[in-house]
Formats: sequence, structure tokens, C-alpha cells
Amino acid sequence: MLSTKKLVSGYGKVPILHGVDFEINEGEVVSIIGRNGVGKSTFIKTVIGLNGVMDGTIEYLGNNINKKRPFERAWLGMGYVPQGHMVFPNLTVKENLEMGEQISKQGHSDDKYTFIYDYFPILKERRNQKAGTMSGGQQAMLSIARVLTGDPKLILLDEPTEGVQPNIVDSIGDIILKINEELGVAILLVEQHLGLIQSVSQRGYAMDKGRIVDSLSREQIDNYEYIKKFLAI
Ligand SMILES: Nc1ncnc2c1ncn2[C@@H]1O[C@H](COP(=O)(O)OP(=O)(O)OP(=O)(O)O)[C@@H](O)[C@H]1O
Ligand SMILES: [Mg+2]
Repeated sequence: MLSTKKLVSGYGKVPILHGVDFEINEGEVVSIIGRNGVGKSTFIKTVIGLNGVMDGTIEYLGNNINKKRPFERAWLGMGYVPQGHMVFPNLTVKENLEMGEQISKQGHSDDKYTFIYDYFPILKERRNQKAGTMSGGQQAMLSIARVLTGDPKLILLDEPTEGVQPNIVDSIGDIILKINEELGVAILLVEQHLGLIQSVSQRGYAMDKGRIVDSLSREQIDNYEYIKKFLAI
């Protein structure tokens, strides 16, 4: 569905990613794990088009998308949940969801809100509350719900558990699995939270210093002794 080959990108003239080979198929949940500052967000931002490609290629649904703008990639079905959630703090929950809907080719439908509120009952309860007044966990839920209103085929999730209380992390894991299993959406998850990685990933990659340094099977992900070296624990 999405693949990068020898992908190089960074900031200004300074490369941060030094030739990343990555692949995710339709319907998969694939994680990228790695310590702080190794280039995980840079990779996701390059895939969605917020960072330019210096070298290498990004292919999505059979086409080279190196030169596509971020909104064009969103129209093609890529959803992006940024690190830190990035909800619009002064808009209500419902207004945040409507912002996400702008990108959808199908446009507004009441059914969409019915299933989204069914996935996230707390957002239904708080639909008229300003997003900035909600907890980290609720904002994480909102940022995931918002991307769903755009009808994505692939969701890029950048550290959804950051700033989220431990008891909410399990709910986020359940939602990710539901989105994948019930809606058939592929998920590229960047995470450092081992519990979440283990509960949702079908396989993964380890990143270090702008490179993929290992490809991880489900068994390796479950093996704490094996993967702890890639995490800040
Ligand atoms: N806007 C920017 N301008 C210049 N350098 C940047 C910028 N954003 C990130 N970097 C640098 O790029 C490198 C990779 O950062 P990146 O944010 O991709 O790491 P990360 O793996 O997502 O880390 P974290 O787990 O802390 O989110 C770091 O050295 C960082 O300082
Ligand atoms: Mg990051």
C-alpha cells in the first residue's frame, strides 16, 4: 500500500533520515519504534508531505507521490494524527471533527458521526466542550476521531499515548484495533509505549539515527529482552 525506498529527508539542508526502506500492506498494523530523536516523526512528516524528499521515493497505492502536497495525500486517503495531538483548542469537539471532515470526498454524513460517537462515547458527551479544556487522553481520542471523519485508508499515528494517563492507554489500543479490524484501515504506528506496541502491532521496524536497523516480527515484539534496546526504558 505504502512503501519508501532509500528515503532521505531532513530540515534545511541537513538530512535526518539516511535511506529508509519501509513497507506497509493494506489492512496491516505496523509499528516503528525507537528512542527520542531518532527520526520517527521526521519519517511520518515526510510520508504525509510536510517535509520534502531529498532522495529516494515514496510510493502509495502504486504511484510515486514524492511531489504531492500534503492535502493531496490526504485526499488519497492518508490520515495523519500528529505527535502532541494538535487539536484546535478554541473549537468545540464537534467543530474539531467537522474540520477533519473537510478532507473527505464523501463529505458529511450523520452515519459517520453515529459510528464515531459510538467508538468514542466521551466525545459525544463532550461534543460542545472546547477541545483545549479536555484531558490529554481525551484530546488523543479527539485527534484520532478527527482523522476518521476524513475516511482514511491508511492512518499515520505519531505517539498517540504521549501525555496520556496510563489507564487511557488501553482504551487507545482498543480503538486502534477496532479501526483496523472493523473499518479495514491500515495503521502505521510510531510509539515508545511498549504495552501499546505489543497490543496492536502485527509487525514492526526499529529505527535508530535516521535508519531502519531491524525488522521486527510479532514474536520479537513480544520478546521484551529483544526489543528493549530500541526503547528508552
Ligand atoms: N523542525 C526541525 N528543524 C530542525 N531539526 C529538527 C526539526 N524537527 C526535528 N529535528 C531534529 O531531527 C531529529 C529527529 O527528530 P524527530 O522529531 O524526527 O525524532 P523522533 O524520533 O520523532 O523523536 P521523539 O520520540 O522525541 O518524538 C532530531 O535530531 C531533531 O532535533
Ligand atoms: Mg516524534
